[in-house]
Amino acid sequence: MAGGTALTGRVRVTGAKNSTLKLMAAALLATGRTVIDEVPDILDVSIMSEVLRRLGCQVSYERTPGSGGGGRVTIDVPENPKTETDYDLVRRMRASISVLGPLVARCGSARVALPGGDAIGSRGLDMHISGLERLGATIVSEHGFLVATAPRLTGTSIWLDFPSVGATENLVMAAVLASGTTVIDNAAREPEIVDICTMLTAMGATIEGAGTSTITVEGVDSLSPVTYTAVPDRIVAGTWAIGAVMTRGDVVVERAVADHLSVALDKLTDAGALVEVLPDGIRVAMDGRPRGVDVVTLPFPGFPTDLQPMAVALAAVSTGTALITENVFEGRFMFANELVRLGADVRIDGHHAVVRGRERLSSAPVVATDIRAGAGLVLAGLVSDGITEVQEVHHVDRGYPDFVEQLRGLGADVKRTQRPG
Ligand code: UD1
Repeated sequence: MAGGTALTGRVRVTGAKNSTLKLMAAALLATGRTVIDEVPDILDVSIMSEVLRRLGCQVSYERTPGSGGGGRVTIDVPENPKTETDYDLVRRMRASISVLGPLVARCGSARVALPGGDAIGSRGLDMHISGLERLGATIVSEHGFLVATAPRLTGTSIWLDFPSVGATENLVMAAVLASGTTVIDNAAREPEIVDICTMLTAMGATIEGAGTSTITVEGVDSLSPVTYTAVPDRIVAGTWAIGAVMTRGDVVVERAVADHLSVALDKLTDAGALVEVLPDGIRVAMDGRPRGVDVVTLPFPGFPTDLQPMAVALAAVSTGTALITENVFEGRFMFANELVRLGADVRIDGHHAVVRGRERLSSAPVVATDIRAGAGLVLAGLVSDGITEVQEVHHVDRGYPDFVEQLRGLGADVKRTQRPG
C-alpha cells in the first residue's frame, strides 16, 4: 500500500467475530435450525463451520449484499451431535475450544484437542477446566485431547481468578443445561458476553447479570433453536476509528456502538480527534497531528487488548511520548519489532511500550504475526512514506471481512497481492 491518503467516507461494520464464533458454538445446545445474521465472511467463521460439520451439523453461509462483509449462517443441529473436535481445527483456531461447554452439557461428554492459537502469549485453559469440574465434569488430558465427561452437570458457584472471556462463555454455555443454579463471580463483562447470554435467553435459558461481574444461571432441561443477530464488531469499529485519526481523515463507522468503545473513543478525543455519536454509528475526524496518549489495556470496560496494536501505531505518529501498558496477554508486543522496521520509535520493557512519536513512518516490508498486529501494521503503512508490503496478511483475513475493499472504499491506495484464505 502507498501511504499518505486520509481515510474518508463511510464504512459499515458487521457482527463481531468474537461473538459470532461463540453464538455458532451455542447453536449446539438445541436440536434443529439456528440462524445467525450479520456473521462476518472471514476465515475463522469457515473454521467454526467446519468444526460444527464434523460434529454432525449442516452449516451453510450466505452473504448479505451491502452489509460490509456480513451474511447469514444457518446451522442444522442433529439430535445426537458427535463429540470430538480434532487438532487440525483447534490448531487453526483456538476459539474451537468453545464447543467444550455446550457439548459436555448437551451430550454428557466431549473430546476437544488442546489448542495452539495466536502467537500472543500462553493463553491457558485452567479456568475453563476448573469451572467445568466445579459443575461436576470429570476432565482428563490424553493424547493431546481434553476429555470431559458428566452424566448431568450440577449448578454451583464459580469464582474466576481473572475475568476470562472464553472461560465465562464456556461456563455459561455449560450451566444453562445444568440442574440447579450456577453463580459465576468475577465473570467477564464484554459486550460479546452480553450477546451470547441474550441469544441463550432467547433459546429458553434463564440468565441474570450478563454484563456485570456476577452471572447467575438457572439450569433448564432443554433449549430451542432461534434466529439471532450478532452484536456489531467493536474491534473492527475501533480499528476504523483509530485509522481515521492516524491518517487525519473523517470516517463514519456505521453500526459502531459508542458505549462498547467508551474508553477508546475518550482516548481519541484526548488525542485531539472529533468523535461524534450518531443515531446508528460514530463519526471520527482528525485535523492535524494527533497528541500522544497513554493507554492501559484491561478487561471490558477497559481499553481492549485487541486494539492495543492500533494504539501503538497511533502513538508512533503522534506528538510526544506515550506509554502503552498491556495487562491481558503477555507477549503481545512482538509486533512492535515490525513497527520499528517502519521507523517507529518503540521501546518495550516487560508489559510496557514507550512510544516516541514521529511525524511520518518510512515504508518497508513487514510481517503480520496475528490478526490485530496485522491490522495495526496496515494502519501504520497508511502513514508511511512510500510503498509498504504487509506479508502473511491472511492473519488479517481471520478478523476483518473485505478489509482491502473497505480500505479502498475509504480512499486508501492499497491492493492485495496474496490470495485470501
Ligand atoms: C478473547 C478474544 C480475544 C481477546 C480476549 C480478551 C475470542 C475468540 N477471542 O480471547 O480476541 O483478546 O478475549 O478480550 O473471543 N487465561 C488463563 N486461563 C484460562 C483462560 C484465560 O490464564 O483458563 C488468561 C489468558 O492466558 C489471557 C487472559 O486470561 O492472558 C485473558 O484471556 P481470555 O479473556 O480468556 O481471552 P480469550 O477468550 O482467549
